[in-house]
Amino acid sequence: MKNENTRRACLQVGLLGIIAFSAGGCTTPSSKPITGEAEFKQHCIACHANGGNSINPAKTLLKADREKNGMHTSKDLIGVMRKPGPGMTAFDEKTLSEQDAEKIADYILNTYK
Ligand code: HEC
Repeated sequence: MKNENTRRACLQVGLLGIIAFSAGGCTTPSSKPITGEAEFKQHCIACHANGGNSINPAKTLLKADREKNGMHTSKDLIGVMRKPGPGMTAFDEKTLSEQDAEKIADYILNTYK
């Protein structure tokens, strides 16, 4: 008898866990813990601190330089990450998912004006 009660309790906890988990899953897109800023700091800041460019000072991430070099949209920026010019690390989709690349591009567009 006692054994059966314990089993039922376990089952209930298990079900609650699944419900809590799926409810949590529903809210993740709006509350992603990893931001574009964090991704930028992890992958880009070594050469682009403060939106500058420590290797090629004519190609900073500031709007004036970006626009001069034909980079207007997040698509343009992702293009550079995938196929950069000389001196910059290339970021393929294994290193940087499309989603993360988009986050970084948005961060750059919103931060370095
Ligand atoms: C190892 C140093 C290095 C790292 C790391 C790096 N970059 Fe660059 N980046 C460069 C260099 C050098 C250039 C200029 C390349 C050229 O001559 O086209 C550049 C150019 C750019 C440009 C074009 C800017 C312009 O005004 O033309 C963008 C946008 C850019 N990087 C974004 C990024 C992003 C986003 C990351 C991180 C995901 C990153 N870079 C990581 C060195 C780096």
